[in-house]
Amino acid sequence: MASGGLPPVVYYRDVESTNDVALALASSGVPEFTAVLADVQQTGRGRLGRSWFSPAGAGLYLSVIVRPEGLDARTPLITLAAGVAVALAIADASDLRVELKWPNDVVIGRPWRKLAGILCEASAVGTSDAVVVVGIGVNLLPAAYPAELADRATSIDRERGVWCDRPIARAGLVAGCIQQLREQVRRLRADETALVLDRWRELGRAGLDGAPVQWTDERGPCRGIAYGLGDDGALLVRHAGRQDRLVAGDVVWERLSRV
Ligand code: BTN
Repeated sequence: MASGGLPPVVYYRDVESTNDVALALASSGVPEFTAVLADVQQTGRGRLGRSWFSPAGAGLYLSVIVRPEGLDARTPLITLAAGVAVALAIADASDLRVELKWPNDVVIGRPWRKLAGILCEASAVGTSDAVVVVGIGVNLLPAAYPAELADRATSIDRERGVWCDRPIARAGLVAGCIQQLREQVRRLRADETALVLDRWRELGRAGLDGAPVQWTDERGPCRGIAYGLGDDGALLVRHAGRQDRLVAGDVVWERLSRV
C-alpha cells in the first residue's frame, strides 16, 4: 500500500466503464488506490443493474482499486466508507451541505437530489488477489439528463449557483476522493470502524432518525420507519411491529426522496 504521495491516476478520454478498466488493471499488480479516470463512459454502470449516464465532460468518472487485505469481515463496509469519503471530498471542494442516502448516494436539498453515486465491484473474493473496485460517479455540470433522472439528479455546478463564478477544480476533487477513500479504508483496517460508521450516521441522519421508508423484499412491497445504521452497515427499520435489517436493494424515503 502506498503511504506517501498519491498512487497513480490512469487517465483515459473514452472508455466503456472505468470499473472494467480498473478491474483489469488490478490483476497486473498495481498499488492499492491506483485510480482510473475518464472523460466519458460509453457503458457506465450503476447499482442494481442500472446504467450510469456518463456524458463527456459533465461528470467525474473515477474508479479506485482497494485491496481488502486485513479487512476480513469489514470488507463489505468499504461501500459505506466510500460514501463517507466522496461526501467529504465533495463538501470540501464545493462547500455544499451534502448528505448521504443509504447505502452510499451523495444527495443534497429537499427533496433529495443525487449528486454522486458509488458502485463497488469485487473480484477474486476469498483469495490473496481479492480486489474491490470503488466506482465513483459525480455530477459536475448540468447535463441533458434522460427524463427519468431529470428531477432526481443535480450537479455540483447547479447547486453552487450564481454566487460562484468558477467551476470546481476537477483535479482537486479527484485527489480529494482518493485521499478520503484512503483515510476511511485506513480507519477500517486500524479497527477504527466506529469512526467511519459514526461519520456515516452524521451525514445520513435525515434518513435514519424516524424517516418513513418503502422497499420491496420477498414479502412484497413493505413500509416501515428507519431508525439507524447497524454496525454491519445494514439499514435498521421498524416494520409491522418488528425490527428488520435491510442489507441491499432499493429504498424510497417517503418524505425525502422522490418516489
Ligand atoms: C449508482 O448507481 O449510484 C452508482 C453509480 C456509479 C457510477 C460510477 S462512474 C465510474 C464507475 N464506472 C462505472 O461504470 N460506474 C462507476
